[in-house]
Amino acid sequence: MTSSKEVRETSVIGAGVMGTGLAITMALNGIRVFLNDLTEDLLNASSKRISDLLADLEGRGTIVSASRVQDNVVVEKDLKKAVENSDMIFEAITEDPSAKRDLFEKLAENARDDSVHASNTSVIKISEIAAGLKSKERIIGVHWMNPPYVAPLVEMTPSEWTGKEVVEITRNFLEKTVGKKVVLSPDIPGFIVNRFHAAVTSEAIRLIDEGVSIEDVDSVWKYHLGILYGLFGPLKNADYIGLDTTYLAGMYLTQRLGREMGYVPDWLSKKIGNNELGVKTQRGFYDYGNETPSSLYAKRVQAIREELRCRQDQK
Ligand SMILES: NC(=O)c1ccc[n+]([C@@H]2O[C@H](COP(=O)([O-])OP(=O)(O)OC[C@H]3O[C@@H](n4cnc5c(N)ncnc54)[C@H](O)[C@@H]3O)[C@@H](O)[C@H]2O)c1
Repeated sequence: MTSSKEVRETSVIGAGVMGTGLAITMALNGIRVFLNDLTEDLLNASSKRISDLLADLEGRGTIVSASRVQDNVVVEKDLKKAVENSDMIFEAITEDPSAKRDLFEKLAENARDDSVHASNTSVIKISEIAAGLKSKERIIGVHWMNPPYVAPLVEMTPSEWTGKEVVEITRNFLEKTVGKKVVLSPDIPGFIVNRFHAAVTSEAIRLIDEGVSIEDVDSVWKYHLGILYGLFGPLKNADYIGLDTTYLAGMYLTQRLGREMGYVPDWLSKKIGNNELGVKTQRGFYDYGNETPSSLYAKRVQAIREELRCRQDQK
């Protein structure tokens, strides 16, 4: 398969929460998908979840024909038959490095030599899965968000061995065929999304131990942080706060809490030393060119107002 050649046939291994969602994603995009799991019962349960969801989408008028979409899904318990003709194979089995390595070894034996083998692992380094496997050049991390047929983001993680062409084919498929926003993660534990997820969730749990109610933890995100981080991301948000203020607050918290809350590598200290303090000096993580701070602050207010109006409209 060359990077310009279309991905026509796919496989999804593991028909649980994510595998079922991935089969739906492929089917909705008109791509044939072979869905595999360990038992007929698991496959039948997955098939039922797919038909229920498609019937619901048909009922709402989101798709024209549930049965036509469902025709793209072929349930297949035999692994060889499920993968032998596929251009791209998505692994969505249990989050266990040795189970994933065993599966990728089987894929190397049963799939086409030019097929792409993608792991949906949420946190395991791709090089830990691929090390020593003969198909390691073809293995890549493709971390879909749940539910994958709705969530717009996908994280893509090549390992040190992943071939350039595999990266290109995968990106092309995710962006052009399935229409996702792709972010490229280094091969680090937790990638990008789950590093945030782990940090935020563990801080949320810690705050309960420090006396905050469960409802108030969630309200802080629903009514403030979720809005700002959702609109701008944490780094542009820090630019709006001011990198000097962010640094001083981080240092105070680090001293009082005895753990690192203000990570400041040398390059960031240098930025602060160079008066790159964010929006107020027109340069921080981002370069705002000649746009004045007051215009940038006004845009931010406008964006927050629009977001709040959209939320109100949806109620
Ligand atoms: N659940 C989520 O929200 C989510 C989101 C993103 C990524 N992921 C990742 O997706 C993967 C699957 O997670 P899940 O939540 O769908 O798990 P799940 O437990 O719902 O499903 C896993 C399925 O894999 C099957 N399986 C196990 N070994 C197999 C094998 N050798 N061959 C075929 N099938 C096999 C199991 O029978 C089960 O049906 C994990 O790596 C997880 O980290 C999960």
